[in-house]
Amino acid sequence: MPDAQELERAIKLLRLGEVVAIPTETVYGLAARIDMPRAVEKIFTTKERPFFDPLIVHVSHVDQAMKLTTEWGAIAQTLGEAFWPGPLTMVLPKSEEVSSVITAGLDTVGLRMPSHPLALELIDQLGIPLAAPSANKFGKTSPTSAFHVWQEFEKENVFILDGGECDIGIESTVVLVKQKTNELAILRRGYVLQADMEDALKSRGLDFKFVTAVSKKESPGHLKHHYMPAIPLVVSEKTEMTHAEVLIRTNTELVNLPNEIEGIKIVKPEGGIRTLAVLQLADDPVVAAREFYGELRRLAESGQDGILFYRQPIQTGELWEALFDRMYKAASLILS
Ligand code: TXA
Ligand code: MG
Repeated sequence: MPDAQELERAIKLLRLGEVVAIPTETVYGLAARIDMPRAVEKIFTTKERPFFDPLIVHVSHVDQAMKLTTEWGAIAQTLGEAFWPGPLTMVLPKSEEVSSVITAGLDTVGLRMPSHPLALELIDQLGIPLAAPSANKFGKTSPTSAFHVWQEFEKENVFILDGGECDIGIESTVVLVKQKTNELAILRRGYVLQADMEDALKSRGLDFKFVTAVSKKESPGHLKHHYMPAIPLVVSEKTEMTHAEVLIRTNTELVNLPNEIEGIKIVKPEGGIRTLAVLQLADDPVVAAREFYGELRRLAESGQDGILFYRQPIQTGELWEALFDRMYKAASLILS
């Protein structure tokens, strides 16, 4: 854990308009103050992230969130009370205080109050909300420790506030809230489940409906690939397929993939894939989520040519689905 001096240094850099890597309970974020468009632009350039993908704004008080949206209604209030601080991002109509650089030109903004004490303390002391995407290069594996962030941004010399390992390990649930029609739509699954949100809303007797149809415009961050490790990840949905069979199929199918999909490079080791490191995850999805990104990074450095995960039929339920959302995007190949 950092001492007071490091916290002060982070605040000083943020005040000056620099980007700083900060711990949250989900994954590390690459943060900048929201009131300086130049600082926010630095997030995109440091991450090499395209400007069409909007950033989440992090607050330490509900009052701050209310100023950033024009529609803080009963649904947002209820979900905020139930899940903040915590891994829930609410997408709401943005107010004038939110620059369109942050929202990638959308008229909505993603708002979240993280629960990591250092993140809260930092935002509190700075007194300004922070825009922050995950602290990784665009399309790469998200960081769940300060070391992972250093691996991503060693060259860029980004200051990292070390808050230990992330407790949750996968990114927040992103939910679009349409107060006018009482509709909600999950744009990205995460630790806060739809069932949890339904319970909270029902306990207040609110009218609401979860819908699934969202347009590309409402969720521009949805790409085919994301979170990719440095060597190819192969997911086999067939537990009976042998390692040798997987190798043959992988080598046949990998060469046929394009070298790049939606701006994200598909890694194809020279000489093909001769060895695969097997990714093992805990039976409990809470533990599996915490370990997932770290394991991807560890195996990517194990000297093997690829990573193999056998999906087990018992891995069902909303939290496993949230993890598989990431895993399938991180994978170069899905063998079904
Ligand atoms: O847990 C998290 O959410 C982490 C930590 C650092 O807070 N942040 C994070 O940010 O995962 P990022 O940028 O890697 O992912 C944010 C996702 C993107 O897919 C983005 O498209 C979506 O949220 N998003 C942000 N604002 C949005 C908006 N106004 N409308 C729709 N989607 C939005
Ligand atoms: Mg990300």
